[in-house]
Amino acid sequence: MNLKNYLLIFLIHLILMSCGLPVSVNGQNKYTSFTPGEIWEDNQGVHINAHGGGIVYHKGVYYWFGEHKGQRSNAALVGVTCYSSTDLYNWKNEGVALTVSDDEESPIVKGSTIERPKVIYNAKTGKFVMYFHLELKGKGYEAANVAVAVSDDVVGPYQLVKNSRVNAGKWPLNMTDEQRNSTVNSADFDKWWTPQWMEALKEGLFIRRDFEEGQMSRDMTLFVDDDNKAYHIYSSEENLTLHIAELTDDFLDYTGIYVRVEPGGHNEAPAIFKKEGRYFMITSGCTGWDPNAARLLTADHIMGPWTLHPNPARGEDAELTFHSQSTFIIPVQGKKDAFIFMADRWRPKTPIDGRYIWLPILFEDGLPVLKWFDEWDLSIFN
Ligand code: DGJ
Repeated sequence: MNLKNYLLIFLIHLILMSCGLPVSVNGQNKYTSFTPGEIWEDNQGVHINAHGGGIVYHKGVYYWFGEHKGQRSNAALVGVTCYSSTDLYNWKNEGVALTVSDDEESPIVKGSTIERPKVIYNAKTGKFVMYFHLELKGKGYEAANVAVAVSDDVVGPYQLVKNSRVNAGKWPLNMTDEQRNSTVNSADFDKWWTPQWMEALKEGLFIRRDFEEGQMSRDMTLFVDDDNKAYHIYSSEENLTLHIAELTDDFLDYTGIYVRVEPGGHNEAPAIFKKEGRYFMITSGCTGWDPNAARLLTADHIMGPWTLHPNPARGEDAELTFHSQSTFIIPVQGKKDAFIFMADRWRPKTPIDGRYIWLPILFEDGLPVLKWFDEWDLSIFN
């Protein structure tokens, strides 16, 4: 190549980089910024397919796990995908970490619903542990199960270990004896959503209903605390109440210790981080695939009490969380107090085209704030 061509290519790269567009270097796409809502290509030039995702950082690499979405279907036709990155901008497709089964008897048969997978690493066992929301094929959202899969290798293959409701036969820590022993039950109500029904719900109507079978678990995340204790945080009680359940040391089971958060608050899509000993949780309301206003909760202890604050989003479309729904909060490695809000802009009719809304978490008066940026990079945290 002559000097003129070199200069021309160099100039094109400069222009593309200044627009935050991918630059092909040795066949790899190269981003130097985040452009929320735009197509985000992986190393093969294909829009990343890892929705409702979460990230685990291991040995200098970020691994992004998410739902593989089809052209027309939200059902799990492939499984949970995995991408890796060292800079958070450029992602390499690592393939399918958990594959759906062809066996109609399997809970993760092709056509089941697999949502919001999250992976954590257990240093004691050396295993990577994946939790996800699982709905059984043909049963809508009725099962409300959590599934657990494990792998020795971060990118998989993950093997399904179990799927079930949560904490069968256990009472939440923050339920009184009176609430536990109440005889009020669902049959006492002709209709849902009346003030009396809502009061009963807050007093533990569905906890008692689901006590034997185990509590419902839909939208979810995982969190590993500084002391290596891990927690499963999920929408329970017909999506009306969040639960935070402590996991056993191997992360494969529950200790039976759990709390209810915001009974009747209708929170979905929990995402959590910890800063200076304080826990921050961003959630959404429940409007199916449509966006709504984010909620912010804080606590000094993971088991609460949790305090609800106003919507952390600011500016245009703040009441719709910039047309997205939370899924995870990424602690940026090597930068103090740097966290990325990770959300999905769902496209239920063409799910594969769902977009990723990653925004920096800013702080005002000690509380997280979300503001829209067409384009931003990690230097915002400097
Ligand atoms: C909102 C949830 O957050 C998503 O994960 C998915 O379950 C949709 N509802 C289904 O309508």
